[in-house]
Amino acid sequence: MKFFYIILLIILSIITSCFSNLPDNISKILKSRCDSCHSYKIYKKIKSNNKEIWEEILHKMIIKGAKLNEAEYEKLLKYFANNEKH
Ligand code: HEC
Repeated sequence: MKFFYIILLIILSIITSCFSNLPDNISKILKSRCDSCHSYKIYKKIKSNNKEIWEEILHKMIIKGAKLNEAEYEKLLKYFANNEKH
């Protein structure tokens, strides 16, 4: 019976890891600040954790009209520049 629970736990952890691994605060910013023009999931298009690339993208989006305040900008930049798979 113990064995069954272990298998169940493994299956559950695989299922949950398949869902977006975006932290709550990051997903909140993306959904409220980026989703108005395109899907907030567009960040997946950029497979880079290079800080300069993300600075450039976020600046471009701010120029286009994204309403990011400084704290939100810093959070997004930190997240994208530190995560290889996002
Ligand atoms: C005012 C509209 C607007 C908002 C708000 C906006 N974007 Fe964009 N975004 C665009 C447009 C238009 C494009 C496509 C044209 C382009 O790449 O220049 C784009 C493209 C992108 C791309 C793809 C760039 C590429 O080189 O392929 C990424 C990534 C992106 N946006 C991220 C974001 C993020 C993150 C936010 C929120 C902080 C955001 N955008 C908010 C208008 C917006």
